[in-house]
Amino acid sequence: MKILVINGPNLNMLGIREPDIYGQNSFADLLRLLEQTAAEEEIEIEQYQSNHEGDLVDKIQWAYGKIDGIVINPAAYTHTSIAILDALKAVGIPAVEIHISDVASREPFRQISYTGMACEKTIKGHGLEGYREAILYLKEKYS
Ligand code: DQA
Repeated sequence: MKILVINGPNLNMLGIREPDIYGQNSFADLLRLLEQTAAEEEIEIEQYQSNHEGDLVDKIQWAYGKIDGIVINPAAYTHTSIAILDALKAVGIPAVEIHISDVASREPFRQISYTGMACEKTIKGHGLEGYREAILYLKEKYS
């Protein structure tokens, strides 16, 4: 099984960025968690991070026919991007949305998720561990 983990804008700043909200762990720590999960679960995990909406759309389109499941943290684009929503719907790959923070208990503008409308499930507020949970969900359901 091959899973694509996509991270949107500013997630490369983990550890530096608002640590009271997103925690002390760095983006490199997240990449290590993904590598460890791939080894433990005996699956392939490809990761991609971009600060640019169109690049995220391109990567989702690239996944068509190559990837069995997508774990996506679209970051701020969650709340704005119909283009990413449409890309996820276009490829039809099972997807799980993940948020490090508990967006449900944050500002009103974070309460809408466009991208989540194309995802089977949303995991929020579980920190980096949420990525592992999303991967395990896809593995259990689709491998
Ligand atoms: C986030 C939540 C978003 O509202 C925010 O814009 C982010 C990160 C999260 O992981 O908690 O950049 O997706």
